[in-house]
Amino acid sequence: MPSLKPIDFADIFGTTVDLLPEACTKLIAENNWRYRVLEGADRDGVVLDLLSRIENRRLTFVENEDKSRWEKGWGENLEAFKASGGQLDALLPKYMRPGLPVRLYGEFVQPEDPNFESNWYTVYRTWFVGRYLAGFPHIFEFGSGSGFNVAYLAQQFPEARIVGLDWAMPSVEIVEALRTVHGLNTVGRQFDFFHPDASLDIPEGSAIFTVGALEQTGTQWGAFLDFILSKKPKCCFHIEPIHEWYDPQNSLVDYTAWKAHEVRNFWRGFPPRIIELEKAGRARILKTKRINFGSLVIEGYSQLIWQPL
Ligand SMILES: C[S@@+](CC[C@H](N)C(=O)[O-])C[C@H]1O[C@@H](n2cnc3c(N)ncnc32)[C@H](O)[C@@H]1O
Repeated sequence: MPSLKPIDFADIFGTTVDLLPEACTKLIAENNWRYRVLEGADRDGVVLDLLSRIENRRLTFVENEDKSRWEKGWGENLEAFKASGGQLDALLPKYMRPGLPVRLYGEFVQPEDPNFESNWYTVYRTWFVGRYLAGFPHIFEFGSGSGFNVAYLAQQFPEARIVGLDWAMPSVEIVEALRTVHGLNTVGRQFDFFHPDASLDIPEGSAIFTVGALEQTGTQWGAFLDFILSKKPKCCFHIEPIHEWYDPQNSLVDYTAWKAHEVRNFWRGFPPRIIELEKAGRARILKTKRINFGSLVIEGYSQLIWQPL
């Protein structure tokens, strides 16, 4: 049975094995990365099921301006966090579903370990945060959700101020509680991508970070992009699904994700706009990397790193 090795992690992340920190190699060694590539009828079954969900619109989709789903979901995390006396485990988001097939190198694969995707994300975040976010005095995570990335950043970089922003109030409360309960250097603040708050201070030298958050803006990301361009943070780091980087003409597996993006009204058009801005001398792209790993429905972890000029 194939299994992910350190070299596969490095290749998927866009680095080399010798640059994987020890924390990553340890996590890789501790977990089960075996998987079976789905073929024949198994693969057809997954593709047909996804196509039927796409046709019948049986996928959660973004309804602009409706935050009720998030208020409810993060409200549950907030309650569990309070009930547990502030356990950080209570912040694990529920959207990664254990046991399902995942996308890997353009195929659907069935992992042996039901927690393969969340374990993979733990390795990825460890690498990404250490590689890119060290040394910034202020890190703003927009769309911070359950706050589990904010908590991790604050633990890794105690000298940095970590601001967690979301339009859902329970998210803001969680980030505030990370400071009041755990003494972490965090600040929670309400923020709406569709109506950015111009009064938000982004000090010089700040980093902007998003993980699966801008995906929720469909094609309505213009106001937030204008906000970034006016605030001029030092660098923007996005871990997001990127519609433009699939290959729907040549790959059926990609076609299902590409189509799902449209039906779900997920992020589209942003990377081409950043390329236009670069040509106009208003942005510098530092890294674009399609991440050939994802959940059953989409590849959610691609990297876009850029600077407004
Ligand atoms: C898939 S969750 C990701 C949360 C978190 N970044 C993570 O990695 O778990 C998407 C997040 O974006 C937030 N969001 C969606 N639309 C938003 C908007 N218009 N303004 C601000 N946040 C928004 C949601 O409330 C939710 O927390």
